[in-house]
Amino acid sequence: MASQSIPSSTPEAPIDFNSIKRLTADEAKAVDTLIINELSSDVILINQMGHYIVGNGGKRLRPMLLLLAAKALGEVSQNHLILAAVIEFIHTATLLHDDVVDESDLRRGQESANAVWGNAASVLVGDYLYSSAFEMMVRTNSIRVMEILSKTTTAIAEGEVLQLLNCNNPETTEEKYLEVIARKTAILFSAATRLSAVLSGSDQTTEDNLALYGQHLGIAFQLIDDALDYKATKEELGKNLGDDLAEGKPTLPLIYAIQHSNPQDAQVIINAVKNGDRNAFNEVFAVVLATKAIAYTEQRAEQEAQKAIDALHVLPESTFKDALISLAKFSVQRNY
Ligand code: IPE
Ligand code: IPE
Ligand code: MG
Ligand code: MG
Repeated sequence: MASQSIPSSTPEAPIDFNSIKRLTADEAKAVDTLIINELSSDVILINQMGHYIVGNGGKRLRPMLLLLAAKALGEVSQNHLILAAVIEFIHTATLLHDDVVDESDLRRGQESANAVWGNAASVLVGDYLYSSAFEMMVRTNSIRVMEILSKTTTAIAEGEVLQLLNCNNPETTEEKYLEVIARKTAILFSAATRLSAVLSGSDQTTEDNLALYGQHLGIAFQLIDDALDYKATKEELGKNLGDDLAEGKPTLPLIYAIQHSNPQDAQVIINAVKNGDRNAFNEVFAVVLATKAIAYTEQRAEQEAQKAIDALHVLPESTFKDALISLAKFSVQRNY
């Protein structure tokens, strides 16, 4: 079970993200080339903004999941590479739009595209990335692939709109919150791993379990993202803390803290959510800490990561399966 390159790890042992990344380094390079080629447009602003945001990296976690799943199932095909690029394009498009909606001015450790070029340009170039992604996916010549990806982008949009409806509403429940993150974040992770299985010609059970892995991992990933918005350091995260509070987003740390504090403390959070009050960050954070709401959120993320790992029982033992297990753990442990 334990591989040579990645030490088998308990939830406590730190996961070495870079050693996992190395397992798909060659394929990731090919994916990067596809991405760079696709970004070249004769419309100069598309080139500039595309390279600005993509060139500055990001973890490239979603393509990595697709590639690792492909390796766990067999060979990596050209279509796997294309879809890894497609998934990263869709992810990047959502980030461009998300920073406009969330009014975030820091992304991947630099000024966000909307801070540099403005909201209109970010929305339009985000649309360009979405359209490019669809143009690329057509090259796979597979109606099944297009069906999965078009359903995915629809669900992401639904998740973002649902989130908008919950904004400034301190009565949002954990259940409603989970519905939002399942769509806005987890569905893309799930598409990445499902598509890998589809392209590898896997049976339905394997495909569904890989999709389940992606879905649970995606939920764990967003739970931790929402915890990091309160507890990370700006330098490590490459994003500003408190953006969620500033938007009046009732994420799980706040939902839990409201439900587990005295009426006076709960009111501090309720007001901050209603007003989207970044200035209340320290006061809100104190209540979040006192109620152990971050610990609860992390615990929920651990449960989701475990469900993700359980779904991998369908895969034969390999270094790549181990890496997928490690990435589920990384999604919980990460601080960036
Ligand atoms: C950020 O995703 C958006 C969320 C779903 C939380 P990542 O944390 O994967 O962003 P990059 O690509 O590494 O910058
Ligand atoms: C993730 O939510 C947004 C998408 C799925 C596009 P966040 O708004 O929390 O993501 P960050 O924190 O800005 O990266
Ligand atoms: Mg955001
Ligand atoms: Mg966030």
